[in-house]
Amino acid sequence: MNVDENDLLHPAHGLQNTYNEYKETADWLLAEIRIRPQIAVICGSGLGGLADLLSDKTTIPYEKIPRFPKSTVPGHAGKLVFGELRGKPCACMQGRFHFYEGYPINEVTFPIRVFHLMGIETLIVTNAAGGLNDEFKVGDIMIINDHINLPGFAGLNPLRGSNEERFGVRFPCMSDAYDKTLRQMALDSSQDLGYQDFIHDGVYCMLAGPSYETIAESRLLKILGADAVGMSTVPEVILARHCGMRVFGISLITNKVVMDYNSQEKANHEEVLQTSRHRAEALLRLISNLVGKIN
Ligand code: HPA
Repeated sequence: MNVDENDLLHPAHGLQNTYNEYKETADWLLAEIRIRPQIAVICGSGLGGLADLLSDKTTIPYEKIPRFPKSTVPGHAGKLVFGELRGKPCACMQGRFHFYEGYPINEVTFPIRVFHLMGIETLIVTNAAGGLNDEFKVGDIMIINDHINLPGFAGLNPLRGSNEERFGVRFPCMSDAYDKTLRQMALDSSQDLGYQDFIHDGVYCMLAGPSYETIAESRLLKILGADAVGMSTVPEVILARHCGMRVFGISLITNKVVMDYNSQEKANHEEVLQTSRHRAEALLRLISNLVGKIN
């Protein structure tokens, strides 16, 4: 079969990095830092402030890291920050890579396997999401208990292509993607902090973006069982589960998704960033409390 070079460049094609490429980046990072991180946190839109809570920090801009893509979205800083949070050695991604920016799916998820090879066992993912569930208000926090990989329905899965057994099995299980113990610990943390009025759990649905949903699409997602919708997180979670990392995910509900043709509301990125700023602190405190509980 002849493979057209342009076809290989298509983002859905499943370009792949080799095991050694991930390993080289992991070894490069380990040589740059003194700590040996156990937990990685991916900071979503407007949630990069977590890195400021780390002590004894080493900050590495993405452009310095071999093979790391660069972030292009306003509100995403593009730095990897290492340090201690509540005494736990952590890596914190300030800015993530989104599929809608044009990265092939292997680049969106590149850091995950690097983290795994650095010895990180727990991944915490955060994001800004639109609320579909009627009970959710702007500024609420949703602990992700499951996801819908909608781009995956159309063939866009980060594991597409030949399988690298050193990372994981060909057909990984996803029915336990979001660690039950970590979810319970986060619920306990939200009680400790008095957040019970604005904490929920629910299903996160990923769309590729960058356009927001039409009303018909939003209604469809709700019927499908999604509680919140966003444009990230799911590819990273799939890769992390493939290589056996424990995953905890959390969404900040930055806007209510428009469901009604008579509504004057329109989704916009400014509102998303504004809400993130408003409730970011509470969300970061919750993560910090949770990290303190992780063994
Ligand atoms: N839809 C999709 N992605 C989002 C939204 C939304 O309403 N809010 C924040 N990210």
